[in-house]
Amino acid sequence: MATNRTFTMIKPDAVSNGHIGAILNDIIAGGFKIVAMKYTRLSEEGAGNFYAVHKERPFYGDLVKFMTSGPIVAAILEKDNAVEDFRTLIGATDPAKADEGTIRNKYAKSIEANAVHGSDSDENAEIEGSFFFSQLERF
Ligand code: CMP
Repeated sequence: MATNRTFTMIKPDAVSNGHIGAILNDIIAGGFKIVAMKYTRLSEEGAGNFYAVHKERPFYGDLVKFMTSGPIVAAILEKDNAVEDFRTLIGATDPAKADEGTIRNKYAKSIEANAVHGSDSDENAEIEGSFFFSQLERF
């Protein structure tokens, strides 16, 4: 069932490069409402669990290391067709392939340090949102 919600993280590279405000501006200008938001840092165990689907991938170890390297901003966003529209707003995983004007095109440096995460399905949006937020923390 489509929930019209998606989950995002502003990753450690974008936080340390001072892009939180600009990225939130783009998200809001893109028509998304912030339903929950948290400035936090992932533990190694937390990042490992969050990215467990990638456990067998060659980049998994580096990904966990990178995602625990500094604070992140986690948020649940609401909009019609949220998952797909958010993936359009952020652009391709590899910023070199991201369309002009997308968040990754503007703020990301590499496929690993790619500024933001966006859920790839309604099901994963719910799982990922629940990783950071209880039902009571969602507005
Ligand atoms: P994200 O959308 O958060 O989901 C998995 C992450 O793995 C992805 O963004 C990238 O930051 C990271 N990653 C690192 N290397 C690769 C790769 N070769 N292919 C896909 N994702 C990668």
